[in-house]
Amino acid sequence: MCGIAGYIGQRNAVEVAVDQLRRLEYRGYDSAGVAVQVGSEIEIVKKAGTIRFLTEELASNPKDGRCAIGHSRWATHGGPTDANAHPHFDQDQHIALIHNGIIENYAELKDEMIARGHTFRSQTDSEVAAYVIGDEYRHGGTLLDAVRRAVRRFRGAYALVVVSDSEPETIVAARNASPLIIGFGEGENLLASDIPALLPYTRSVMALEEGHLAEITRDTVKIIDGDGHHVPLAPQHIDWDIAAAERGGYDHFMLKEIHEQPEVIRACLAGRIDGKGGVRLEGVFSDNVWNEIDRVNIIACGTAYHAGLMGKHLFEKLLRLPTDVYYSSEFRYGDPVLSPRSLAIFVSQSGETADTLAALRLCKSRRIRTLGIVNVVGSSIARECDRTIATQAGPEISVASTKAYTAQVIVLSLLALHIAQVQETPGLRVADWLSELQLLPGHAAKVLEVEESVKALAEQLKDMPLCFFLGRGADAYVGYEGALKLKEIAYIPTQESPAGEMKHGPLALIQAGVVSLFGATDPATTDKVVSNIKEVQARSGTVLAVTSDTTGAIKKAADLVIEFAPTKFDFLNALLSVIPMQLLAYYVAKLNGCSIDQPRNLAKSVTVE
Ligand code: M6R
Repeated sequence: MCGIAGYIGQRNAVEVAVDQLRRLEYRGYDSAGVAVQVGSEIEIVKKAGTIRFLTEELASNPKDGRCAIGHSRWATHGGPTDANAHPHFDQDQHIALIHNGIIENYAELKDEMIARGHTFRSQTDSEVAAYVIGDEYRHGGTLLDAVRRAVRRFRGAYALVVVSDSEPETIVAARNASPLIIGFGEGENLLASDIPALLPYTRSVMALEEGHLAEITRDTVKIIDGDGHHVPLAPQHIDWDIAAAERGGYDHFMLKEIHEQPEVIRACLAGRIDGKGGVRLEGVFSDNVWNEIDRVNIIACGTAYHAGLMGKHLFEKLLRLPTDVYYSSEFRYGDPVLSPRSLAIFVSQSGETADTLAALRLCKSRRIRTLGIVNVVGSSIARECDRTIATQAGPEISVASTKAYTAQVIVLSLLALHIAQVQETPGLRVADWLSELQLLPGHAAKVLEVEESVKALAEQLKDMPLCFFLGRGADAYVGYEGALKLKEIAYIPTQESPAGEMKHGPLALIQAGVVSLFGATDPATTDKVVSNIKEVQARSGTVLAVTSDTTGAIKKAADLVIEFAPTKFDFLNALLSVIPMQLLAYYVAKLNGCSIDQPRNLAKSVTVE
């Protein structure tokens, strides 16, 4: 999710690398740096903060060379500081490395290095990767050989770019699950994590494939697979404009972010499942704290509040741990009753939402334990909570939150499983849950295949005057999020509630033309949902079901249906059902000509009350 830049050729390589980083700024970042080959040395300049801090540093300490790599960081391991910024040197300061992704087994590798007497300058997993490559380089061969051997020791996702002081004008790169694109120029070659950073220099590009490595000089590009076999070069011509390239070719950031969800689930799980069927959540409270907690309060706004509802569902169902969910704005003025043994969890994508921050400060003043679930690592909420778990969803640009929601629910699930592991909750199969979670990226990718049918449904439903979002249990909670998407970007009025509540009032609004979207993923409530569907149809309402039901009962009852294959756990099916709802909101908004990434009256980060 961070930005990678690399240049080798006749120009001032530092200037090019910094320019490339600027072109990746739209992705968001918290620090930036460059490494440049100057004579027989590598020099690194890096600063926390925006690229302006880096360029000011470079202005007072200019660097000139023909080969440079650059990085803009989105913190995952270790806060946004100068020391944690990339590039990182290896232990001998002969190699400089930049890295996107997460090395899941970095803790083991770091222990191994420490045991051999090495000391580290940062808290990052990336510096550990630099040391492992340094270690391999000492055993001989080229930098490419060393990287190829080193990556066999890494578990996780990475796009790695390295330079060595003993191989001038050579950049080596490796990729596994994090994007890396090579740009082919005349007497110059480039590298970047994303196409927009290459377009001012070349339109001839090639994505490095999974498990492949590249060795780049100003006149040559050599690509090999993990076994060292040569891979033929197959550059493609890109004719997108720069704005389209920033969106990865998608029409809007929202659609790009919806499609990123399989990858986001993977990133969110990375490093958090050990090889023995257990959860490993770094930096959370010690085990005795989890045994002491008698109640959980989840406090958040908007989409994050909806993720909190999913957390409540799981905490109560799996752990029998009483959990309340509050809107931050209500909590802070509501004089809440707080047990001294309770835990307050603050969920926020931005980490800067004013009401959530104020609620956090209230809890701290009452000496309640606080835990943040936050996407922006260096944000106020992340810093002020006693403990924070990063959602690792990467920068979210669209105002309408999509991938952050999914990541928040995944973190809450991991947390529930962590508590279950500590408390040894009887009957709860943590290992089963974890193996199903590991399959979830694949399931999410399958659910995304409904896109074409959702598009057709959007065409049919785009003029609906009102849309109900109904369901039971977790399906009702996901419905709240689906409804928020439809109203915030497509401006369609919605009415969301548990399906059983319809006959207590909202049913009066049903008439011809009104659509009711039923989330129907829980086999335990299928019969009840079918009855609710009939109630709507009896009043001439149209029913659209989003379902993983395999009995055929929901499909038979509904007028329109979006189906997807179930996972082993109903809760995860409910979570997956948000994807068709996000897509429906997107396509209805698009067909109605709405401003999708920046809907009217709304801001991405609500830093005022
Ligand atoms: O940054 P946060 O997660 O704290 O933001 C909370 C809400 O403002 C946010 O989720 C908002 O509801 C989104 N626009 C929903 O798509």
